[in-house]
Amino acid sequence: MKARTSQNKLWGGRFRKPTDPRVERFTSSIGVDARLARYDVRGSIAHARMLGACGLLSRAEAARLVGGLTKLLRAIERGAFKPDPRAEDIHTQIETMLKAMIGPVANKLHTARSRNDQVALDLRLYCRDVAEQLDGQIAALQRALVDAAAAHQDVVIPGYTHLQRAQPVLLAHHLLAYVEMLQRDRGRLADAKGRINISPLGAGALAGTSLPINRRAVARALGMSGVAGNSLDAVSDRDFAVELVSALALLGVHLSRFAEDLILWATEEFGILELDDAFATGSSLMPQKKNPDVLELIRGQAGIILGGCTALLTMLKGLPLAYNRDLQWDKAVVFQAVDASSSAVGVLIPFVQHLRIRRSRIGRLLESDELCATDIAEELVRHGVAFRTAHEAVGRVVREAAVRGRRVRDVAAASLPLFVRGLDARALRRLDPRQSVARKVSEGGTGPRQVRQAIAQWRRRLRPAR
Ligand code: ARG
Repeated sequence: MKARTSQNKLWGGRFRKPTDPRVERFTSSIGVDARLARYDVRGSIAHARMLGACGLLSRAEAARLVGGLTKLLRAIERGAFKPDPRAEDIHTQIETMLKAMIGPVANKLHTARSRNDQVALDLRLYCRDVAEQLDGQIAALQRALVDAAAAHQDVVIPGYTHLQRAQPVLLAHHLLAYVEMLQRDRGRLADAKGRINISPLGAGALAGTSLPINRRAVARALGMSGVAGNSLDAVSDRDFAVELVSALALLGVHLSRFAEDLILWATEEFGILELDDAFATGSSLMPQKKNPDVLELIRGQAGIILGGCTALLTMLKGLPLAYNRDLQWDKAVVFQAVDASSSAVGVLIPFVQHLRIRRSRIGRLLESDELCATDIAEELVRHGVAFRTAHEAVGRVVREAAVRGRRVRDVAAASLPLFVRGLDARALRRLDPRQSVARKVSEGGTGPRQVRQAIAQWRRRLRPAR
C-alpha cells in the first residue's frame, strides 16, 4: 500500500511559501518512526471510537474511520506497509493514506488531538510491547543458562577476584550468577512498564482541549492503566523511554560481562571452554584461528546502549516545557537500544545452548592447591583459632610452600598441627578444590547442595506461563 501525498503536510494553512526541500529532508522522521505505524493506527482507532462515543463524530463517521484504520492496521501487520519518503512523519503518512481510502471524513480523525500527545502515545505503546518481548527473550536466556548449569553441575573451576585465582567454585554457580542479574533486569523492565503504560492522549498540543473527550475510555481501550495527570507533562515526558533504555543499559552491562567471561574462558590460557564451530569465526590470515567475534560484538554493543541512555538524558536536560522538536530524536535512540539488546540476547540463547566445556582441561587449572588456602584457615577457625591468627599462619605456610617449591597442603599438614590441638594432618593433606567446594554450606554459596537447590528453584520460577 502506498500513500498518495502531494500536499503532504498537516499544517499548510498559515504558510505562503513551500518548505525548502532541504528543510523537509532534515525535519522528516519517517525513516525512523515508520516503525511506530501499528501503534499509531491502534491509538487512532481507540481515539476515533471515543470521538464517536462522545458525540464529537456521528456514529457513521466514527465507523468509517475505524473501518479504514482497521484495514490499514491489517496491511501493516501483513507487512504490506511502505514508508513514504515524502511524508513528514508516520502520523502524517497514516492520515494521508486514510484520506485516500475513505475520503474527507478522515479530516475529522485529528479532532482533540495533536501529534505531540499522539507521538508520546505511540512510543509508549511501542515501549510496552518491547518490554514484554524482551522479558520473554531474557527468560529464554535464563533457561538456557540454568540448563547449562544443570548439565555441568559437577564441574569445579577456579573462582577469581582481581582476576587472580581466589577460591574454587562450581561452574554452575558462575552461570547462575548471570541468571540472578538477568532476573533483576526483568524486574526493572516490569517496573518501567508500569510507568510506560499511562496514556498521554487527550493532552492535545500541551493544554488539553475545550472539546468533551473521554481520556479514560481511550486509555482503557488501549489496555493502559491510567491517564497522565498533567497535559504539559504528558507531551514532554520521556522518562519512560529513559527508564526502558537504562534498564537495557544495565542488561547490556550484564551481557557484556558475561561475554567477557566467556572470551577469557575460551582462551587457551584458561581453556575452560571450546567455541562451537557454528558460533565462532575465523581469521582471513591465520588459518588456525577460531575467534569469539559474537561475544566481542555483544561486549562492544553494550557501549552503544549505554551511549543511548546518555543521549536521551542529555536531550532532555535543557528542554523547557512542553513539547520541543528535539524529542523527535528519542525514537532513533530507543530503537537502536532495543535492537541491540534484542539481537544480543537472541544470539546468546543458542550460544549458551552450545557451550562446550573442556572438562579434561579444567582439571589442570585446579592443580595448584593455593586455591584451598582459605579452607585451611577455616579449618583452623573450626579448632578455635581466631580468624586473623589463622589467616596469618596460613599466609606463612603459603609463603614457605612457594619458597620451597612444595604443595601448600603438605606444608600445612606438616606444620600447623604442631600448634593447633586436634588438627588432623591427613584431612589437611586431602584438601583439594573439589572438597573445598563440597564443604561450602552457606546459603547462596557454591556448595553443591546449594547449587542443586538453586537450579531446581530457577527451573520452577522460569517455567513458561503457558
Ligand atoms: N515527528 C515528531 C516527533 O517525533 C512528531 C511530533 C511533531 N510535533 C510537532 N509539533 N512538530 O516528535
